[in-house]
Amino acid sequence: MEFFQTPAKANRWCIDQRNTGKIIGMVPTMGALHEGHLELVKRAVKENDICVVSIFVNPLQFNEEKDFSAYPRNLEQDRIALKNCHCAMAFTGSLDSFFPRIDRSNITLLRPGAEANDLEGAHRPGHFAGVKTIVNKLFTTVRPHNAYFGEKDFQQTLVIRKLAKETSAPNIIVCPTHREKNGLAMSSRNERLTSNQRQQASVIYRALLAALSEWKKGVRGVKELEKAMVDVLATETDLKVEYATVRDPENWQEKNFNNSATTARALIAVTLGNVRLIDNMILS
Ligand code: PAF
Repeated sequence: MEFFQTPAKANRWCIDQRNTGKIIGMVPTMGALHEGHLELVKRAVKENDICVVSIFVNPLQFNEEKDFSAYPRNLEQDRIALKNCHCAMAFTGSLDSFFPRIDRSNITLLRPGAEANDLEGAHRPGHFAGVKTIVNKLFTTVRPHNAYFGEKDFQQTLVIRKLAKETSAPNIIVCPTHREKNGLAMSSRNERLTSNQRQQASVIYRALLAALSEWKKGVRGVKELEKAMVDVLATETDLKVEYATVRDPENWQEKNFNNSATTARALIAVTLGNVRLIDNMILS
């Protein structure tokens, strides 16, 4: 497996691969790889000639310095895991390598559209501008044909699909959330939970299932669906709920669904101790 630390070298290598007709699948990550990431990598390996993974803990998308510093980092383990999955190239950049000689405060950020305004966008101001700016740099470096993202970060996938549309590339493939046995969505942040907290955090999945069960019974009122989730979340008193809501996945609007609505998306964000967790589920 090739390993590059500068965008220029990674870019040269990718161009050479493209010039020999290779189809490149890319999995952008922030490292601390878990089974969920590796599923994306395995899929990219299977569906493309070569798979490239980026490992970059993006400072621009953290609105709190302490969250950025606490983000888990396991570069050596990640390299071994990627090699075992037949990843062809791993790339780790640094902010400085993407924006040489520019002070962070002078970096021009790519602004996301209305899809980024609420939920994660409202609770983490600037987060999606940071994501969009760096994912654009990663795409420009690797020039993938296909890029794979997890559905757990559902709102992020909307921002990235929009970026891909604006820049005419790459094809975005959103893959199902990988879960632990108790239903907790896999996330690098789970590493920061105690085993007791990991158990407590499974309530998020149960809350999403409660919304799904109401939806299947024919409930279409947002307030009722939200209450079904909040009631379940309230059984874990250590958990602080940031939001538990439902959106129309097509136009991202909060609204009461009419009786003929066939699909919606339930989304939850909580904090447990000092770890922030998000998850979502399609209601259909
Ligand atoms: O989902 C992530 O890990 C990050 O937001 C991403 C897409 C790699 C951008 O930094």
